[in-house]
Amino acid sequence: MRITDTADRWWKNAVLYCLDIETYLDHNNDGVGDLAGLARRIDYLAELGVTCLWLMPFYPTPDRDDGYDITDFYGVDGRLGDHGRVVEVIRMAHDRGLRVIADLVINHTSDQHPWFKSARRSKNSPYRDYYVWRSDTPPDTSDEVVFPDKEDSIWAYDDRTGEYYLHHFYSHQPDLNWGNQVVREELLRVMDFWLQLGLDGFRVDAVPFVFEDVDTASKNPSVPADPHDLLKEFRGFLNRRRGDAILLGEVNVPHADQRRYFGGDAGDELTMMFDFITMQNTYLSLARQDARPLAKALQTRPAIHPTCQWATFLRNHDELTLDKLTDAQRQEVFDAFGPDPDVQIYDRGLTLRLPTMLGNDPRRLKMAYSLLFSLPGTPTIYYGEEIGLGEDTSQDGRMAVRVPMQWTDGKNGGFSDVAPGRLIQPTVEGPLDARHVNVADQRRDRDSLWHFMATLISRYRSCPELGWGEFEVIEQPLTNVLVHSCALPETAVYAIHNFAAEGCELELDLGRDFADTVLVDLFSDGRIPLDGRGHATLPLDAYDHRWLRLQRGEPLLP
Ligand code: BGC
Repeated sequence: MRITDTADRWWKNAVLYCLDIETYLDHNNDGVGDLAGLARRIDYLAELGVTCLWLMPFYPTPDRDDGYDITDFYGVDGRLGDHGRVVEVIRMAHDRGLRVIADLVINHTSDQHPWFKSARRSKNSPYRDYYVWRSDTPPDTSDEVVFPDKEDSIWAYDDRTGEYYLHHFYSHQPDLNWGNQVVREELLRVMDFWLQLGLDGFRVDAVPFVFEDVDTASKNPSVPADPHDLLKEFRGFLNRRRGDAILLGEVNVPHADQRRYFGGDAGDELTMMFDFITMQNTYLSLARQDARPLAKALQTRPAIHPTCQWATFLRNHDELTLDKLTDAQRQEVFDAFGPDPDVQIYDRGLTLRLPTMLGNDPRRLKMAYSLLFSLPGTPTIYYGEEIGLGEDTSQDGRMAVRVPMQWTDGKNGGFSDVAPGRLIQPTVEGPLDARHVNVADQRRDRDSLWHFMATLISRYRSCPELGWGEFEVIEQPLTNVLVHSCALPETAVYAIHNFAAEGCELELDLGRDFADTVLVDLFSDGRIPLDGRGHATLPLDAYDHRWLRLQRGEPLLP
């Protein structure tokens, strides 16, 4: 790795921070968070140390899917601000060295989008082919819907023109027809537009569904035979416009299939992808207090092009999906972290944030975040994770985790000054309410989760091994402990995590190549000498976590 690589390929060791503007900070006091509010928190984000903001959809929307139902890809939702405010946020972030990406929802529009309104008016509409239609009665597709509580088919009948349109998500979100070159060109212009306004890339929503649409539409001979051509076209265009812009894909498919979405050996499709498989197995390991499922998931990650990167995460804005675990494994996670059927959703996930799942045990929470930041890849956090923000399970389904940020212990947690009844979403109540969990208190308290997270972020940023290095699981006899290393030619970081509620003693055996070397503890400044056989005994507390840098000779980094 050359120093220029670290600067150019910033996504290889970035820290991503996802936020929804409407629940972050309400500046104009109308009960809805806004861009002006976010602008006032850019210094906060820089202080926390995150390096890239992922803005959830801020486009005009009827808001029936929390903004993922868009009526104008070029617009800004008037409740949140305007283009001037978007540019202000981007410019302020850039001033502080932060990058900004935003959601690019390419699978569908809202049914209130002018394209769809026109398309359903007549079969001769110039926009008819922007969507996918069929005239025959569709087969039973109830097992293909994404939201089984609300939909029972991926086809909806449109009485006006007597045909069915495709929608993998809600029926108010008709899928775009990617077989139509005009749609492809339109979406390239959308990317172009936001790149010109300063965005550094996109989180590409629901990518595998786009592929299925291409498949479905491929009865049409103009459709490309290989949907991966679509991603190559997007990536090629993106990097012609901006060499260092990224596409971060939401691709929840088995590991083996993910390699293709990165563009295989060429690495010319998605720059980054969320690692849903590792995330799900992390929960299985946490539930079992057994590191092996996670170790196995990491070991079966496919090799990817060196310029591509995995995005690791523990929680996002949707349900905590456990869909890739077996039924029995999922049940183990439910039993451990969400036994109440009210917090289970779609038979595959949980509507809780991490603190509630982990019984609000600070040792376990810190261990989970230490683990996240030590895994090979680029860690992504969802706003509020830095303070242990809770949830509001009285809200419908996935809305439970989309609660207002808690800045102070004051009115509405400092999110907004309106009467509580006017808030876009009620604030959290109970043991994790703003009196107990808020940014202001935690920034004053050196032992808080906030300070722990800020330290983790700073250590992660000074460990290029984690983003760039060669990953290996270090064999040792304890099943409750994960020891892994990320190594560059000159340096390596060893991370040790105890998943168990009891302490233990780890016999770390790195072999004779490591005889008489020293492991430097990156959190406590302690030093662990390895003996002439490259061996050391390490006592570990319950849920302990250590990051150790191998030091040969002179220290490499402070
Ligand atoms: C987003 C969801 C959204 C869906 C439809 C996703 O996968 O993460 O929040 O509902 O796409 O746009």
